Amino acid sequence: MLKKKILLGVTGGIAAYKSAELIRLIIKSGAEVRVVMTKAATEFVQPLTYQALSGHRVYTDIFDAEADSAMDHIELARWADLMIVAPASADFIAKMRNGYADNLLLTLCLASKQPVAIAPAMNQQMYANRATQDNIKQLASRAVLIWGPDDGEQACGDTGPGRMLEPTELFERVAEYLSPGKLDGKNVLITAGPTREPIDPVRYISNRSTGRMGYALAQAAHQAGAGVTLVSGPVNLDAPSGVERISVSSAIEMRDAVIERVAKVDIFIACAAVSDYRVEQVAAQKIKKTTQKIKLELIPNPDIVSEVTRLKNKPFTLGFAAETEKLEQHAVEKLQRKNLDMIAANRVAAEQTGFESDTNELTVIWPDGQRLLTLNDKNEIAKQLIDLVAERYNASS
Ligand code: C5P
Repeated sequence: MLKKKILLGVTGGIAAYKSAELIRLIIKSGAEVRVVMTKAATEFVQPLTYQALSGHRVYTDIFDAEADSAMDHIELARWADLMIVAPASADFIAKMRNGYADNLLLTLCLASKQPVAIAPAMNQQMYANRATQDNIKQLASRAVLIWGPDDGEQACGDTGPGRMLEPTELFERVAEYLSPGKLDGKNVLITAGPTREPIDPVRYISNRSTGRMGYALAQAAHQAGAGVTLVSGPVNLDAPSGVERISVSSAIEMRDAVIERVAKVDIFIACAAVSDYRVEQVAAQKIKKTTQKIKLELIPNPDIVSEVTRLKNKPFTLGFAAETEKLEQHAVEKLQRKNLDMIAANRVAAEQTGFESDTNELTVIWPDGQRLLTLNDKNEIAKQLIDLVAERYNASS
């Protein structure tokens, strides 16, 4: 990790003693570390310990008299390639989720344009508490990297999930994160979310897609070094940091946004749940209620992914197949019909997969092979899928 710059935040928890080892491993790899501690952290470990290991003064206070001679908080946030908070206490996670900035470390988290990773460390009951779970989920949806926790024996005598990952494991995550990506220098265009097909000015036809899978793919592709553009239907998610988002509503808008950009990309991932039909005559005024039956005439929408694969210089294209039955058969048929390089099929009727779920399981098929990505968190599945896309893309070019 030669010359990489890592900002390590330490919060108040017994695992803070392990952060000393993490600093040592990072320094040994040739990277630089600056340490920021919360006040509670200094109750567990003396700043001097980290100062000696990192070779730099440790920052603890936002109103620092010595700040003139060192870096102020904005400079510190800009300086880092990656910020990691380890250990991240339940209290810190709750404050971070709410955007508090009442200490230096929280301020840095807000000021950082670079990715922030947190390594949760707390008692298993505190970790299991819905408040903590909800906070972590929220942070993950804002592209904060959640590393851990581990499961096992705890300092308090309990056993369960909540232990901070071991320093060697955290070091590996940092190294992997900062190593040259598998898609370095490539441009990736991703569609995500549902589309809305207007009926009149207040009503529309849509579907249950949340956009989570597409957003997770955008984040994973960005982490793999790609320049990522996300063409997104209406969803309730923040764009992952470093990803350009183009917000659209209808299938036609999505198609136009894709066609405008697709010539410049190496890889196209069609993850959106595009409405197959739209209303032929959108009413200019709100349709009034009567006691009569009404009819909506629907006409087919353009198939965005097929339009892309018909292009002369088509990018490497991955499509999705949400199926309720005969998963592989339908996926293979779709792979051929849509002229895709690869298709990721999921069973939407199954529990824990597909729409509105945090987890997913995918069967990925390409013309001469296939792989099962077993049930996992959508972020993890996205990482594995992007690895596979990179592998197949490199094999095909
Ligand atoms: O035909 P079906 O909708 O099942 O195909 C799913 C795949 O096609 C997905 O990759 C989806 O993003 C893409 N698609 C599209 N435009 C449409 C319909 C589907 O790009 N109008």
